[in-house]
Amino acid sequence: MPPLANHLHYGDCLTYMASLPAQSVNLIVTDPPYLVNYRSRDGRTIIGDNNSEWLNPAFTQMYRILKDNSFAVSFYGWNHADKFMTAWRSAGFRIVGHFVFAKHYASRTGFAEARHECAYLLAKGNPAPPAYILPDVMPWGKYTGNKLHPTQKPLEILRPLIRSYSHIGDVVFDPFAGSASTLIAAAQLERSWMGCELDPAYYQKASQRLINLSHSQKGASYETQQQSA
Ligand SMILES: C[S@@+](CC[C@H](N)C(=O)[O-])C[C@H]1O[C@@H](n2cnc3c(N)ncnc32)[C@H](O)[C@@H]1O
Repeated sequence: MPPLANHLHYGDCLTYMASLPAQSVNLIVTDPPYLVNYRSRDGRTIIGDNNSEWLNPAFTQMYRILKDNSFAVSFYGWNHADKFMTAWRSAGFRIVGHFVFAKHYASRTGFAEARHECAYLLAKGNPAPPAYILPDVMPWGKYTGNKLHPTQKPLEILRPLIRSYSHIGDVVFDPFAGSASTLIAAAQLERSWMGCELDPAYYQKASQRLINLSHSQKGASYETQQQSA
């Protein structure tokens, strides 16, 4: 069995999640491919963004490995909300909240300026309300510059989610880790973390970021995995 804390897996999250025991994580915060065939201005792409084959199996596994009476937060592509809703509901999740993160800049201009990102709050069972109830509209935070990943999320938007929907010492999991933003935010809040990343370039960046963090945090340790996936 893989380590159940402070581990970034290089490879397919579907295979990895299938190897985890049921009810082994306390909170999932994830930013999966949005199904939009994304290509950044500098040509970077995202595996899984051009098909939805992974969508239902991934959320079915997430539901299985999440503890009862716990939360998952999933960002999603708004123009494929129907597909995400279907996947969440058929996995067993209840839809219990929706967050909008307002940007002070437009990330794209089509028929409207794209100035927000959104995420749904999903529940497995009946979790207790959190001690800190968050507003469902929050500022996006500082633009990351997307230096480590073309869709790099600011840590400022992830920390409130993790703080509210988990406790110190809990295991926070992100199967679509990218540059490990969720995992870094979890570590900063004294949570354990686990994640997966399939793209070797992003896995490298994420690993380096986690190593840098462990060097700056007393007593923390993180070893990289050989790229054998
Ligand atoms: C939207 S990005 C996440 C970005 C991340 N939130 C950040 O701040 O850097 C989604 C990530 O999922 C990864 N991915 C796609 N399919 C995957 C799979 N089956 N298993 C593991 N990772 C996968 C992609 O390579 C991509 O880096």
